[in-house]
Amino acid sequence: MKKLMELMAEELASAFEKAGYDPEYAKVTVSNRPDLCEYQCNGAMAGAKAYKKAPFMIADDVVVYLKESKIFSMAEVVKPGFINLRVKEEFLADYLKEMEADPKYSVQTAESPKTIIIDYGGPNVAKPLHVGHLRSAIIGESIKRIGRYVGHKVVGDVHLGDWGLQMGLIITELKHRKPELVYFDDSYQGEYPEEAPFTISELEEIYPCASGKSKEDEEYRNEALEATHLLQQGKPGYMALWNHIMNVSVTDLKRNYANLNVDFDLWKKESDAQPYIPDMVEDMKKRGESDTKEIPPCMLLKSDGASLYTTTDLATIVERMKLFQPDEILYVVDKRQELHFIQVFRCARKTGLVNPETKLSFLGFGTMNGKDGKPFKTREGGVMRLENLIADIDEEMYRKIVENRSVKDKDAKATAKIVGLSAIKYGDLSNQATKDYIFDVDRFTSFEGNTGPYILYTIVRIKSILNRYVQEGGDLSTGKILPAVNASEKNLMLQLSGFAAMVENAFEEKAPHKICAYIYEVSNAFNSFYHETKILSEEDQAQKESFLQLLQLTRRVLETSIDLLGFSAPDRM
Ligand code: ARG
Repeated sequence: MKKLMELMAEELASAFEKAGYDPEYAKVTVSNRPDLCEYQCNGAMAGAKAYKKAPFMIADDVVVYLKESKIFSMAEVVKPGFINLRVKEEFLADYLKEMEADPKYSVQTAESPKTIIIDYGGPNVAKPLHVGHLRSAIIGESIKRIGRYVGHKVVGDVHLGDWGLQMGLIITELKHRKPELVYFDDSYQGEYPEEAPFTISELEEIYPCASGKSKEDEEYRNEALEATHLLQQGKPGYMALWNHIMNVSVTDLKRNYANLNVDFDLWKKESDAQPYIPDMVEDMKKRGESDTKEIPPCMLLKSDGASLYTTTDLATIVERMKLFQPDEILYVVDKRQELHFIQVFRCARKTGLVNPETKLSFLGFGTMNGKDGKPFKTREGGVMRLENLIADIDEEMYRKIVENRSVKDKDAKATAKIVGLSAIKYGDLSNQATKDYIFDVDRFTSFEGNTGPYILYTIVRIKSILNRYVQEGGDLSTGKILPAVNASEKNLMLQLSGFAAMVENAFEEKAPHKICAYIYEVSNAFNSFYHETKILSEEDQAQKESFLQLLQLTRRVLETSIDLLGFSAPDRM
């Protein structure tokens, strides 16, 4: 099914053509003067030069052919040459009826679906998730969902950081604490124990301790570097420890991501790419590529053979090409890593690791700051752990929910979790990803304004009206959408009709913030309609059923949208 915008553009194109003008000029946009019209076409202005005519003369010629339009109730020329448009109520109602019946609400599914790998999350094993990892998870998850919705094959890969110095640090610290463990006995020949010699809380205490020591103690640092190196060489005791670290840590990460409603198809790791390095480097040497561009050169091998972040990323590209032949690899990573990716992409192209058609893209996101404008910290000034941040938000949400409403206590806790997640995700996603933003707990958890809880509140309001109707014996499956009865209903209908264009655009621009802006408009439009219109007390049954159909469509559009953002709505609030 076509988008409303397309239908309008077609009608204008035919009017331009009939009037003797190039239909290319017939572009329609949403009006920026909603007091004057709903849509507008500025094509006469654009065509004035080519036809050596005053724009309003062109516009006058065109609107003649819009008089009999099945779409427009008004097509009016405004000097210097705009065509102001209004949509017929009947047409709009019919359009929404069709949209309602379409499982994708008129979003067009990609004709040739692409395979897109999204590299997001990027946690480092054994280090607790902190707020820096939050953005990648939230933004990447949303883009993955949007991509799938528009019909692409999207594969999300967490790309665990499991191959760096942090592993050597943990091994070193363990060795200091428990030198008697078999992992450190070079003459040991037996099987290594199945049980890890630490728990997740110990692991989380060991890493910062070791990292602290290595910064002060040169000898300790060298020991950790050596341990990292030995691990990368495959020393059996260290490999066994690495396995323990992985198991304990991945279990914990999965739990954390599940709490965020973030889900990866692949749990690949930096170490998985290592086997691809020797051949890749050999091949690059043979090609003898050199690069004269003014960016720092890309170093592939250190003299001791230890692998580098860049090398690992290049080898990961080799691996991904081999396993998935993707059309695109998208990295959702902190924008401070941009130079790294510029180097990686450039090197991958120069050395032919990817096909010329394969897109390598980098979506660098800004920093999440505290109210002081500096990177978000705990009250004591330390790194904020993700779990604690979520717990703080849930607590604040719980306080607000019980303060405002009469939800039973055991419900309130679960509801606070659902609403809290919307506060965090919407607070993040409603900003353009590349920009820094201020994480403002008070604002994000508010039920009013441009917030997640406000959107959920709107959905819950709709659900409760629908439920009441059913409880009173009503049947939600009957009835059809009738032409709008007032301006606020028409506005809501126009907003809903824009869903498909919005989703497709959000995907093209990898811009979840466009979904946020859209659902904020839809929620506002719904709430005005709700305040101005008697719904359940409407006496005309057909009209009442029409309102209820519109409510259901609004609910589905909002719920689909928040699902694309990665959160959901409770039944009550
Ligand atoms: N683990 C990295 C970090 O914490 C992020 C990984 C991003 N992805 C990539 N392919 N380099 O900085």
